[in-house]
Formats: sequence, structure tokens, C-alpha cells
Amino acid sequence: MSETPENTAPQAREHAARAGQLDAADPLGATVRDRFVLDDTVYLDGNSLGALPRAVPDRIADVITREWGELRIRSWDESGWWTAPERIGDKIAPLIGAAPGRVVVGDSTSINVFKAVVGGIRMAGKGCTEILVDATTFPTDGYIARSAARMTGLAVRPVEPARIADEVTERTALALVNHVDYRTGQLNDLPGITTALHSAGALAVWDLCHSAGALPVGVDAHHVDLAVGCTYKYLNGGPGSPSYLYVRESLQERFDSPLPGWNSHAEPFGMTPDYAPADGIVRGRVGTPDILSLLALEAALDVWDGVSIEDVRTKSLALTDFFLDCVAAYVPPGRVRSVTPQDHGRRGSQVSLACSPMRAGSVERGGTPIAAEVMAELIRRGVVGDFRHPDVLRFGFTPLYTSFADAERAAWVLGEVLRALPEEPAVAGAGR
Ligand SMILES: Cc1ncc(COP(=O)(O)O)c(C=O)c1O
Repeated sequence: MSETPENTAPQAREHAARAGQLDAADPLGATVRDRFVLDDTVYLDGNSLGALPRAVPDRIADVITREWGELRIRSWDESGWWTAPERIGDKIAPLIGAAPGRVVVGDSTSINVFKAVVGGIRMAGKGCTEILVDATTFPTDGYIARSAARMTGLAVRPVEPARIADEVTERTALALVNHVDYRTGQLNDLPGITTALHSAGALAVWDLCHSAGALPVGVDAHHVDLAVGCTYKYLNGGPGSPSYLYVRESLQERFDSPLPGWNSHAEPFGMTPDYAPADGIVRGRVGTPDILSLLALEAALDVWDGVSIEDVRTKSLALTDFFLDCVAAYVPPGRVRSVTPQDHGRRGSQVSLACSPMRAGSVERGGTPIAAEVMAELIRRGVVGDFRHPDVLRFGFTPLYTSFADAERAAWVLGEVLRALPEEPAVAGAGR
């Protein structure tokens, strides 16, 4: 925390001291945090791009100089490049509660959403006429689902996750739902929604982008049918690192990929004109894997050695609780409002604070909402979160490397930034 006279206020001292105690007692503390390249910045954007694990640069240098530079094409076999999508899928599997052989890595999340939705529709009963899509979804899922529905002649019905159990009918092929809402951080009821979908004969397709690596998912235990997720957030795989696709074991034989590339063929080097899918999760592959990104991800996943996802969840809830306490203590009343559920059972690993305009017309000033200005100032002062339209300040907490001291400092700086703004009444309805 920066040394300002206000820091000596008893309240501030109390929270800073508490942060010290919580960090000292944290089982994920310094050892796991040390596995990452970090600096003095308070980095609360790991729910967008995870920090760099220390092991990655050397591993990538070796892949480039030795595996590619020296072994060249031999590396497809000798360095295990060809089997990397399944091998790395098995490394992600325990983090989402999947047994080996159920996760394959490759392509972007958007592409895996396409495979999962069309593959799911192809497995659904003949009389199905619609798919349900989380009405609050990250936009790409909605775009892809609508296109998939157009291609398969089904309708798309947007439904709030909490309403899916009531809205699903025997005509529903599947529902595509975000496990954690990217904007509010709300955790949706994966077990309950999945069970309700199954009771109506529909499949459950989950987007795990904002939950995998932040909390236990339990895809096998909760009988999820298909799931997708990215690896550049809480899995720290790096910018644009490949996504993964999960297919429930009992469905794999019926999974008919809409993108049946040669990498998913039973005999990829047979070069036959006819397509015959490989057995198992391999049929989720498409074309040549993006080896550099894939192997960076593999090295990044080593940070999970000896780490339990349950400990991660415990710390995530403690961090977000503590951050909210600090915000309540440091931020002038009425300046922000948490849109992230208080209830632990409904909270992901982020805190989203609605920060509405405080000056008439300010939302229009240069077209920049006040929350965007506040976040820009936070970043300038070394606290990195992000802004989501129209008024959300998003703070992601990555338990592997976020400390309680980080949470306290972020709230303190937020208080400083908001106190510096002139106090004028909120503009009713503006910026919503
Ligand atoms: C919930 C969710 N789904 C999908 C995506 C898009 O993923 P990709 O860009 O890998 O296709 C994102 C990206 O942030 C996301 O947050």
C-alpha cells in the first residue's frame, strides 16, 4: 500500500494487518505464487488473461530450438506432438472433475462451442425443434449457437439460467449455459440445471471459461454431456492458448463432429476419401494442432502440481469476501454496488462492481462511461482489473497468485480514485 496519511487511519491499518494474517495462513501462499512471473502490479485480470508461469519461457525455447530446430518433423512422434491434444486434455481433466480420455485440447472456444452444439443437436431426439441459450451468455456462444441452429433447422430460445429448469420441454435438444457469468461473476447451478435438462430428455452443454481452474466443476459427477472452456484465463496458458472440449464417455460413440478433419480420422495417415471417426475423445480434434501454444499450455499446467481445486475454491471465496469487506471500508458509500452474488453458492472467482455515472452527462463525455475512466485510473495506479460495458468494474481473483494484500491494496486504491471524483448525485437511469 502507498504511504499516505489516510493509510494510518485505524480502519486501514486493521484491514492491512488482517491481509497479512490471511496471507501468512494461506496454504497456496508464497510457494505457488512464486511459480508465476509477477511484479508490484496488483493483477486482478487473471479471469481474462492469466499471468505467465515461470516454467513456460524455457519450455517454449526448448520446443523451438531443439524439438523444432533440431528434430524437425521427427518431433511429431519423438517429442509427442501428435498426441499432445489428448495428453494435455488429460492434464486439464482433474481440474474439471473428468476422468482421463474425456477432454481434448485444440481450436478456440468459439469453435468448440460449434462442435458441441451441432454435435449435441445431432445426438438429440428427432422431434426436437429448439435449443436454449443462456440469455446472459458471453456473446460468442450466442452467435455460434444461432448459426448452428440455422444450419440444423432448429429455433433458438434465450433463457435466463435460473429459468432453464422451468422452460425446458420435450422439444428442447440442448441448453448451452455459462457456468460463471463473465460480467457479473454469478455462478450458475450446474448440477441442478443439468439434472433438469436430463429430466426433459435434453442435453446439457456448459461453457466453463470462467470456472475451470477457479472452482470445482465436477463434469463427470454431475453427468454433464458436453463442455467447452478456454485455457488462457485461470489455466494460465497464454494469449490465444487453445480451448478444450469435454464429451461424456457414454456419448463419445455417438458424437458426430460437424468439423470432421483428418486429425479426428480413425486412420489419419490412411488418406482415404471417406471419413471414419477415431474412437473416443480423439474425434473432437479437427486439423493440425497449434503446437507452440499447446506446449506452452502444457508447461503452464505444471503450476497445479500438488494444488487441490478445493483449496483454490476456499481461497477464492475468502479473497472475494475480503475484497468486498475492504471495498465497504474504503470506498465512499453509494459509489459502487456489487453485482456479484453475496451467496458463496452463486459466486465465481470475481467481483464485479457497478460504478454508475456521478455527474450529469459524464457517461457521454467523449463517449467514455465513468466506470471505464475509473478503471483506466486504477490501471495507471498499478491495479489491473477490467471494464465491461456499460458500468462494470471487473476484478478477477486467481487464488494461485492473488494475495490478500493485493485485494486490500486494490480496494484502497479504488477508494482513493473514487474519492477524488467530485461528489454529485447519480444520474437516474443513465449508463444502464
Ligand atoms: C465465457 C466465454 N466463452 C467464450 C469465450 C470466447 O472464447 P474464444 O475467444 O477462445 O473463442 C470467452 C472469451 O473470453 C468467454 O469468456
